[in-house]
Amino acid sequence: MSLSGKNVLLTGASMGIGEAIAFALVEARANVILFSRSENKLAQLKEKLSATSDVKITYGTVDVGDYASVEAAVSSAIEEMGDIDVLINNAGLALGAPSPFPELKVSDILTMNNTNINGYMFTAHAVLNHSMLRRKAGTILNITSVTSLEVPPFPGEAVYHANKACQEAFTNALRNELSGTDIRVLALRPGCVATNFHSLRVGHDKEMYNSFFEGYEPLVAPDIAQAAVYMLQQPPNLSVKALDIVPSAQRSLNVFDRSWNERRKDQ
Ligand SMILES: NC(=O)c1ccc[n+]([C@@H]2O[C@H](COP(=O)([O-])OP(=O)(O)OC[C@H]3O[C@@H](n4cnc5c(N)ncnc54)[C@H](OP(=O)(O)O)[C@@H]3O)[C@@H](O)[C@H]2O)c1
Repeated sequence: MSLSGKNVLLTGASMGIGEAIAFALVEARANVILFSRSENKLAQLKEKLSATSDVKITYGTVDVGDYASVEAAVSSAIEEMGDIDVLINNAGLALGAPSPFPELKVSDILTMNNTNINGYMFTAHAVLNHSMLRRKAGTILNITSVTSLEVPPFPGEAVYHANKACQEAFTNALRNELSGTDIRVLALRPGCVATNFHSLRVGHDKEMYNSFFEGYEPLVAPDIAQAAVYMLQQPPNLSVKALDIVPSAQRSLNVFDRSWNERRKDQ
């Protein structure tokens, strides 16, 4: 399916994986609606994207955990751009690592649950009701994680992993409920990608960040963007229901291959 002229709403667009997906979508000639909380970053991104293409680009300053603001931003995007063909739920975060669950701050638990669970549900709810259900057509792509299915061997993140498992359950349930329409619901599961996400999850502690990536080569955001565009470009009769994309050193989630770089040092 060509993305040319399609309207794509992307949450968490201001940096990292979202920003890379925005560039890949614009390259595929999709029109983009960019959501995140940081107005400055979205305005700068719009400027950078506009310099590369004449597709339609708009943005909304939205906290995805606030239903009223999500609904208002979705309505105003539809008014400006027309119906939404694709929703990419991507805004998300982990906080408080490496603390085990009982030591997490309750405020961090609430922020993670609200962003990672309510955020995906609220945006899907607004987009379905205001656009996709009317036409009974579209694609919802949820960026989940390989940690949604198995728990990796690093400490902390009980809430984040549970949030990601919930996103998978939501994806499966929504896919069931929407059979009988032409709305596809897909999950893209990244492994470790070098973004702000990993700095934020350890409270921007440089040493912890560096030791997390020790010995192997993480993915970069454009790797995930390429996978997202691949999933979206499939013809309507074909659903890539879920796609795991991980650094090869993380191909077994429970055994981190930290001798990856060492084995390549003379190549
Ligand atoms: N990086 C990885 O290794 C990895 C692995 C598996 C899955 N993922 C998933 O990939 C997605 C993107 O992560 P990333 O690595 O790109 O992280 P990132 O670089 O930290 O970007 C996170 C994005 O989410 C937005 N965001 C956070 N809270 C928000 C809220 N309440 N409302 C609206 N936007 C919000 C941020 O924008 P503002 O701060 O401007 O709001 C930002 O654009 C997340 O769902 C994450 O769980 C990442």
